[in-house]
Amino acid sequence: MTRRFLFLLGSSRTGGNTETLARRAAEQLPPGTEQRWLSLAEHPLPDFADLRRDSDHVRPPASGTEGMLLDATLDATDIVIASPLYWYSVSGLTKRYLDHWSGWLRTPGLDFKATLAGRTLWGVTVLAHEEQEVADPLIGTLNHSAAYMGMRFGGVLLGNGSRRGDVLNDTGALTRAKTFFAREAPLARFPYER
Ligand SMILES: Cc1cc2nc3c(=O)[nH]c(=O)nc-3n(C[C@H](O)[C@H](O)[C@H](O)COP(=O)(O)O)c2cc1C
Repeated sequence: MTRRFLFLLGSSRTGGNTETLARRAAEQLPPGTEQRWLSLAEHPLPDFADLRRDSDHVRPPASGTEGMLLDATLDATDIVIASPLYWYSVSGLTKRYLDHWSGWLRTPGLDFKATLAGRTLWGVTVLAHEEQEVADPLIGTLNHSAAYMGMRFGGVLLGNGSRRGDVLNDTGALTRAKTFFAREAPLARFPYER
């Protein structure tokens, strides 16, 4: 089956380190792998409104930003959250996109959870801090979201940097990028299930 990778860029600036690292990793994808790159800053979603107790969510029109992101999500075999570390977790743009999953889960006729189950979630992040364990909240957010959705989780590719281009000096991250998407992505589990 052809794999279709959706790269969701969560930085609030263009040409940042997270995108640079994600592109390095993507260069190693096997030929024939489809890639789609979408910047969440260029395609801003509205704040998520929780309608769960009030009314049904309706499928957003395909012509709008939400509908476009929904269709891109449903179409992908592999979803790559490429978010910088902001306040130890995903960026606000990324979090807002994930919040919309809650609406899509409750949109009649979408089968959002059943469609994503068995597909793979990946993460790429760059942080200024030298000690990578401060990114554990971001890793937990992505792992637990994948576990909730019945998805596979390929883990998070971590890099270090602050100014644009810094990550190109992180030789460890560039080495890890070469094999990142070749690693196994087991079904995600919550910590208490292991
Ligand atoms: C709003 C904001 C919050 C940040 N929070 C953290 C943080 O919690 N820990 C950290 O190590 N770096 C933090 N940084 C630094 C960024 O992770 C770092 O500059 C990274 O390169 C930004 O990603 P980008 O280059 O892809 O835009 C923060 C930067 C911004 C703008």
